Amino acid sequence: MLDDQVISIKKDFIKVIDEAKSNTDLEQIRIKFLSRNGLLSQLFDKLKDIPKEQKPQAGKNLNLLRSELTEIFDSKQKEFNTHRDDKKSQIDLTLPGYQYKIGGKHILTQTLDEIKSIFKGLGFSVYEGPEVESDYYNFEALNFPADHPARDMQDTFFISEKFLLRTHTTPVQVRILENHKPPVRAIMPGRVYRNEAVSARSYCMFHQVDGIYVDTGVTFAELKGTLVSFAKQFYGENLKYRFRPSFFPFTEPSAEMDITCFLCKGKGCKICKNTGWLEILGCGMVDPNVFNYVDVDPEKFTGYAFGMGIERIGLLKYGITDIRMYFENDLRFLKQF
Ligand code: DAH
Repeated sequence: MLDDQVISIKKDFIKVIDEAKSNTDLEQIRIKFLSRNGLLSQLFDKLKDIPKEQKPQAGKNLNLLRSELTEIFDSKQKEFNTHRDDKKSQIDLTLPGYQYKIGGKHILTQTLDEIKSIFKGLGFSVYEGPEVESDYYNFEALNFPADHPARDMQDTFFISEKFLLRTHTTPVQVRILENHKPPVRAIMPGRVYRNEAVSARSYCMFHQVDGIYVDTGVTFAELKGTLVSFAKQFYGENLKYRFRPSFFPFTEPSAEMDITCFLCKGKGCKICKNTGWLEILGCGMVDPNVFNYVDVDPEKFTGYAFGMGIERIGLLKYGITDIRMYFENDLRFLKQF
């Protein structure tokens, strides 16, 4: 009886030792076979139940089994430990690789990239101007006379009497026209600042893109054609839009472009204040007074201009309900784009 068990334990032991792949496996084998409550000890316990005359031989056999198993175990353990010193054998080429996290473009950058690519396709180049501007470029040359109430439309952060943080990207139009003779066709993206109370709808810093096209015989019809083409490429072919008369000191006539509300699809809701429409940009024909500031002959040239807020454009496209989310850098928000 005991002899049969000796044979079967030895067989099992050799099988599992052969299959062992690590020190953890070995430890489990040790516990199962060689520990105080292991299979081998249980066999020794059985010695007391066998007939007296068989005891010496059975004891001998068990002792032999114990030394055999211990020897096999020790040599396997030695094998593992020598391999452990050998650095190369520690590399398990079958393990899956690490996944490195890669960053993504901020939603504002993505939106701006898309706007740029659409206007580049329409023949516009891209210009940038300074964020710290002079009163001259931000207001005066754009036909905001000193003390003109239109300056109140834009709550300004002044740096000194003459310098300020630009309140729009429109001053870059003046800088371009000073340096390039028409034809000029360009968009001007960048950061702008306004001294407004921070809320879900307004922030003290945001982004705009202005655009301008000046040449002989540029018409309001071309302005509409360009902006409709842009809006359809950006928001989708089925977009509904309208142009409303408006006022800006630097354009005459001026207009604002609306598209159907993304939320209620034109039925009227809180976002569109029940009108079904949302304003996406301001535009108009460049006021001859602006041409006079930059030495472009208003008798010879006409031009159109437009300007839009990038945050707002994204708000309307993706249904973002709070402008502050753009600047909080909360990954739960950013990862959605
Ligand atoms: N600068 C205007 C604003 O910040 C937007 C604007 C309106 C820009 C009409 C333009 C334009 O170039 O033609 O509200």
